[in-house]
Order: sequence, then structure tokens, then C-alpha cells
Amino acid sequence: MLRVAIVGSGFMGKSHAEAYKALPGIKLAGIINPNPKSAVPLAEEMGCAYFASLADALKEGPVDIVSVCTPTWLHEQHVIEAANAGCHVLCEKPVTFTLESFDRMVAACRNKGVKFMVGQVARWWPEFIDIGRRLKDGDLGPIRMIYEKRLCQLPAWSTWHKDPGKGGGGLYDLNVHDIDFLVSVYGKPERVFAAGHKGDGGAWMYVVTNLLWPGGVKATVETCIDMPGPWPFSIEFRGAGDMGTLHYNLQAGVNIKDGEQNSSYTWYPARAEAPEALTVDQTDMFLSEITEFVDSVRNGTEPPVSLAENRVVLEVILATLRSLEEGGIQKV
Ligand SMILES: NC(=O)c1ccc[n+]([C@@H]2O[C@H](COP(=O)([O-])OP(=O)(O)OC[C@H]3O[C@@H](n4cnc5c(N)ncnc54)[C@H](O)[C@@H]3O)[C@@H](O)[C@H]2O)c1
Repeated sequence: MLRVAIVGSGFMGKSHAEAYKALPGIKLAGIINPNPKSAVPLAEEMGCAYFASLADALKEGPVDIVSVCTPTWLHEQHVIEAANAGCHVLCEKPVTFTLESFDRMVAACRNKGVKFMVGQVARWWPEFIDIGRRLKDGDLGPIRMIYEKRLCQLPAWSTWHKDPGKGGGGLYDLNVHDIDFLVSVYGKPERVFAAGHKGDGGAWMYVVTNLLWPGGVKATVETCIDMPGPWPFSIEFRGAGDMGTLHYNLQAGVNIKDGEQNSSYTWYPARAEAPEALTVDQTDMFLSEITEFVDSVRNGTEPPVSLAENRVVLEVILATLRSLEEGGIQKV
């Protein structure tokens, strides 16, 4: 039996708690938050204990895994605290804001010999699993252009997303999903060029980034975390290659929490008259992600998201930030 504690009791704390609760051989040891307001109700709902701190939770018994689901600016502090206590750590994305901070987190986990994984959950999004496989298998032929989009309204349940030092705006919070996906398929891009819009909190909220890989693959990623009006949470992938065009389009409600409203996933073969509607098995991405992390802890294997790739993703975001602030094409 592995005992799991969750730090933070907001949107992600609840998502992680539900996924762990659905897994055999896992006991939720507690929900941790110095502020009991949302943590006590979540602990009651999950049938586990509430603690004001990890230290308090450890007094009640050992904790094998800590899921860090706090706002982004607190990730480093909570990952290092959990690692120093000898716990394996799953940390929400974006992992942190700087390479120095990331390296401190990795060092703390390595020093204690605990596993550390960043929850880049979009890798388990069912259609993106299929898109990634098709890209890696070369099904599209030589790539002409890739476009990815992720646009939403500012999350209504929090205030920290638009602060550059707390949430990092769309550049960090949303962009990280698409950059991570592309890095997981194509590795480290060589150069980026970006333009965007800063919000009133001083963070880059709307960002369009062009990326170029050494092999010649090109992509454009469009991200916005504060779309005006009742804009629905929307995601798109379009990959055009010599063999055809792969297109995924999803609209949720005002927020991703409201669930999918409509979506299409289509292959347009270059040499056929008609497009082919594609279907994939729909699995819960948080359950898939957390299952694989728990398996890596149980089996003593490497977690499925590599820390080397997380570092590259951070390098891409930092190069994008330089392009936004200073202008011009920036080397990653
Ligand atoms: N994987 C995804 O798709 C996804 C989606 C949304 C958010 N996130 C990420 O998850 C993280 C949390 O986001 P959220 O939407 O759950 O935020 P949230 O504001 O809903 O929840 C944050 C929680 O942390 C708690 N908290 C604050 N300070 C704390 C402290 N010192 N100790 C313990 N708890 C503390 C808050 O009380 C709150 O319960 C962020 O890094 C965010 O970027 C990931």
C-alpha cells in the first residue's frame, strides 16, 4: 500500500485526489493546506485526513508520494520539502519559472533518491497520444507546417495566474502544454520568434510563437489565458505533411471544467477525395498520468516524463520570453 499526500486543494488538488482514490493499492494519507477552507471539505469528500503541513502529516505516519498542486510560485518550496522528507514527488505544470529553480528541485530529489515527475498531463490527452504516435511514425510524411492552439478565459477560481511571478500568465501556464508536446515528439527546437500581449498584471497573456527545429520542422503555437468575452476553452492541432493533413479541434464550455461541447478529429489524406473521421479510446488523462507515475514508483523505473525534456521546455519558454521582451529571433 502506497500512502499519498496532496498539497493544495484547488482544481488540481481535487483532480489528483480523485485519480489516486480510483487506484488500487493507494491510500490517501491526507490533503495539506495551511488554509483549511477548501482542504477540509476536500479531505471529507475523499475520506482522508486534513493537515496544515507536510510535517504534521508525517507525524501521523509515513508518506510515500506527495502530489504538489499548489500555485506555480510555490512548487519549488513544496517539491524540495517533500523530497527532503524522502517522498517521491509528482508536481503540477508549469514546474517553475527559471532553470536555476528547476535545477534546485531536481538536485533535491536526486540527493534523496526519490522520483520526480512533472505532470505534463496533455501527453495523456487521448487524441494527443494518437497525434504523437502518428508524428513519430512519420504518417504525415515530411512535415510542411504544424499549428497548435490553446485559448481560454482567465480561470475564475483564482487570482494568481496573471501575476508574472506567481502564475506566469499564458506564456507559462498554458503554452507549456503545447511546447511540451512538441518537445516530446521533436526534441529541442533551435530557434523561436514570438509576439504577444501583456495583461494588466504584467505577464504575457497572449503569445504566438514560431518554432524551428534543426531537421526543418516548423510549428506555430498560439496561446491565450485571458480571452475576452464568453470565449470557450478551445484546443486545436493541425499538422500538414506531404501525405496529408491531421486536424483535431475541441471546444469545451467557458472552462475546461465544463467538459467537452464539441470536437472533431480528422485525417485528410493527400491522395483521396474524402476526409476520414478518426476515433480514439477516451481515457481519463489524470488517471493515466498518475497510474504511470505510481507504476514507476512501485517498479523502481524512470517516470514517463523525462526531466531532461522538462528542462528543454523551460529553455524554450525562456527563449520565447526573450523574443517577447527584446524582439527578434532567439536561439533556444
Ligand atoms: N495539468 C493541468 O491541466 C492543470 C490545470 C490547471 C492548473 N494546473 C496547475 O496546477 C497548479 C495549481 O492550480 P489550480 O488550478 O489547482 O489552482 P487553485 O488556485 O485552484 O488551487 C491552489 C491550491 O493551493 C492552495 N495553497 C496555496 N498556498 C498553499 C500552501 N502554502 N500550502 C498548501 N496549499 C496552498 C490553495 O489554497 C488552493 O487550494 C498550478 O501550477 C497550475 O498551473 C494544471
